[in-house]
This record gives sequence, structure tokens and C-alpha cells, in this order.
Amino acid sequence: MNWNTIEWRNGVLIILDQTLLPGETKYINAERYETVAEAIRRLQVRGAPAIGIAAAFGVVLGARQFRHEPDFCGQVNRVIQKLAETRPTAVNLFWALDRQKKVVQSGKGLELKPEQIINRLEKEAITIAADDAVINRKIGEFGASLLKDGMTVLTHCNAGALATSAYGTALAAIRVAVEQGKKIAVYADETRPLLQGARLTAWELMQEGIPVTLITDNMAASVMRLGKVQAVIVGADRITANGDVANKIGTYGVAVLAKEHRIPFYVAAPLSTIDLKLKNGEEIPIEERAATEVTSFGGTVVAPAGVKVFNPAFDMTPVRYVTGIITECGIVTGDWENTLKKWKDSTI
Ligand code: MRU
Repeated sequence: MNWNTIEWRNGVLIILDQTLLPGETKYINAERYETVAEAIRRLQVRGAPAIGIAAAFGVVLGARQFRHEPDFCGQVNRVIQKLAETRPTAVNLFWALDRQKKVVQSGKGLELKPEQIINRLEKEAITIAADDAVINRKIGEFGASLLKDGMTVLTHCNAGALATSAYGTALAAIRVAVEQGKKIAVYADETRPLLQGARLTAWELMQEGIPVTLITDNMAASVMRLGKVQAVIVGADRITANGDVANKIGTYGVAVLAKEHRIPFYVAAPLSTIDLKLKNGEEIPIEERAATEVTSFGGTVVAPAGVKVFNPAFDMTPVRYVTGIITECGIVTGDWENTLKKWKDSTI
């Protein structure tokens, strides 16, 4: 791969601007936390793990901006708050920010100087990013064990390297299977309205020579009925204690279709995506985005001015549609509540 989703270089956060892909490979050099917040809000950086990592570095940048302020810790907590307001659904954002909040709290308790707290925040962000790559590799290895030579997998949105620090989650399973010498092909749903499947997943897989066929979202049913896919693997933005899954809008439909066609439906996600505070998926806050994302396509207006629009960015798939959740600890296929809790607790 000759690109990085996010890179921390000499105190600057370099973010690949995903809104310009696949046409342009351009980077944003973020030196202020506001730039990171804006990049998350605008989906220049997106995907649950990637926004957590970006936000963790955003805190470092913000802390640096306020290092001479008398109320340094209070200001850093306000930076954390601002970053938390960027997107509501992916829990990895809040998970990463909570880790940074703890760094600030412990630094304050130890009466450390701002420079010392900034160093600790930087170390924590670097750890979060590095761990993500290791975790995704493990997810990939577990996921690959589900894929047999010659299989074709359908995926929705982008749960690839572009959504993480490396490998991806759903796409990690495919990458590792291919590395193992298996012939795996992919159907990528285009993922309206923002086309993460067409613009990002297809781009990412083509760069690596993994065979990918692009379909519009409304073609998934036919592709399944025609027997063209043997498994579905998607990522997740938040998984509740009972195993319900929030992921990109359209995932629920794919899960229902998979069940109808007796195709296994897997969700690949790190344990940081599991939110044990929420009992079930009904409690997940679902982000609603601007109407213009639906009323225009590629910059062209495709709907009458003033039409009423509903634009939820995510949906919730009840666990009864899920065959397995692939994590860095293994694959959960039942006894969801106990297993997810046991594995999540082992990481805390
Ligand atoms: O709105 P996005 O592009 O941030 O949505 C991303 C997804 O829904 C991904 O599938 C999810 O974050 C998992 S990424 C490993």
C-alpha cells in the first residue's frame, strides 16, 4: 500500500482526505484540533476505529494549543468535549476520548506539568493507533478461518484499511485469506448516499489486486438469489451488550436478505466497538446527516428543491440476523451477552 489513512509525523496529524477518493490522493496536515474535528465531521477521515485514532491525536494537538493556559486541564477537557460532538454513532470515538480523559485526570492527580501531560497524551494516541493494527490483524486471522478457497464475499460500506490504522476489519479477513493463498472475490455494495463502497472499498481492493465487483445497493438481493455470494462480512460502529449491531445504513437490509438466502452474515469489529453500557440496539444514537447528501449525486442535484428527506447514516441490525461477530479474541456465535462481556472485560 502506498498510502496511509492517518499518520502522526513530527507532531502533525496527516489525514488522507477520503472525500476526494478515488479521484485524488491528497492529505490534510492537521496542526490544530479544530482541523481534526472538521475532518471527522466531514468524513475526510471516517470508519469507527479511524475516527477514534484521529480524535486521540486531536486531543494531543488541542493540548499543545492550550499548553500556556492557566486552566490547562480544563481546556483539554473542553477539546475532548468538542471532538466528542463530531459524530454520535461510532463508539470508538468516545472510547478513545475516554482513554485520553483518563490520561489528563491522572496527570492532574500527579500534578504533572502541561508538557508532561502532553507527552503522555501523545504516547497514548500512538498506542491506540499501533494496537489497532495488531488487533485488526488478529480479526483478519480469525475471519480468514471462515473463508474457503473460491468463496465470494459481499461487503457493505468500507471496513478496510481506510477505516482503521491498517488492514481494516471486514477487509482484514479477506486480505488474510488471500495471503493464505485462497482465491477470494468480493461484491462491494456502492453504499448510497456517500458511496463508501464504490469510492473506497473498490479502490482499496483494486490496489491490491483482490477481485472486486461493484453493485448498487438494490442489487444485493439478486446477487444473493443468483447464488453469487457465500458469505457477508461487514464492519460495525457500535455493538451493544446483547450483540445488536449499528453499521452503515443499508447493513440491516443486507442482513435480512442474507438470512432469507441462508448466507452467513458476519460482523468484524474490535472489542473497542462493543458498548456494554447499552443493553440493546434500540439505545444506539443514530446520526442523521444533511439532506443534500441524498438530494444530490456527484455534485448534481437529483431531487426537486425542498423535498422532505430522511438521511440516517447508520442502521441497527438485531443480533438474530448475525451469524458471528469476529473480534481479536475470537468469533462469537451465540451466548452473546456473556461472551461479549467476558472478552470485553479481559481488555479493560
Ligand atoms: O460514515 P462512515 O463512513 O464513517 O461509516 C463507516 C462504517 O459504517 C463502517 O462500516 C464501520 O465504521 C466499521 S469500519 C472498520
